[in-house]
Amino acid sequence: MFIKSSLTLILGVAAFGLGTTATTRAADAMDAETKARVERFEKGAATVNVSKYPQAAQQDYQVFATKCTQCHKLSRPINSDYALPDEWSRYVKRMMHKPGSGISSDEGKKIYEFLVYDSSVRKKAEVDAKLAKASAADKSAAEAKIKEVVTKYGK
Ligand code: HEC
Repeated sequence: MFIKSSLTLILGVAAFGLGTTATTRAADAMDAETKARVERFEKGAATVNVSKYPQAAQQDYQVFATKCTQCHKLSRPINSDYALPDEWSRYVKRMMHKPGSGISSDEGKKIYEFLVYDSSVRKKAEVDAKLAKASAADKSAAEAKIKEVVTKYGK
């Protein structure tokens, strides 16, 4: 009796495990549109020249370069269309939730702040173009967030 119920439990766990794997694969299989977008992103530069960035931003770049290259090239986020704080918040969280990402919330925050700062310098034209189309409330929220990060880094 005990053996039988343990066996059922084990089989149940095994089936659950298989189910999880199947879901993970489905989530990683990109639809054609995402695949094309991701390939476009990956065509550009593979690194960011951070030599003129504040010291703390240079340190956070190392976290970004280590953690965000585990599954794909760093060129994917570097050359993506994403530039606003909200977009980075969404994508960093999305990547943190991928199975096996191993990104702590502290690391996620550093990566997010680096990306917000980096966009404010390297993708300034893109940030401005996006803000020009945003609602007044979204625009001032984004500007406040960028200012907060830039101030935190001390530049
Ligand atoms: C565990 C694996 C994994 C890690 C770690 C990871 N990514 Fe990804 N990333 C993916 C997969 C899979 C995709 C394919 C599209 C999707 O699922 O969003 C992707 C896609 C992307 C895209 C393109 C999304 C789109 O739909 O336009 C960006 C940008 C991105 N990743 C940034 C990052 C950043 C920044 C980090 C570090 C915080 C990171 N990735 C870490 C797996 C990962």
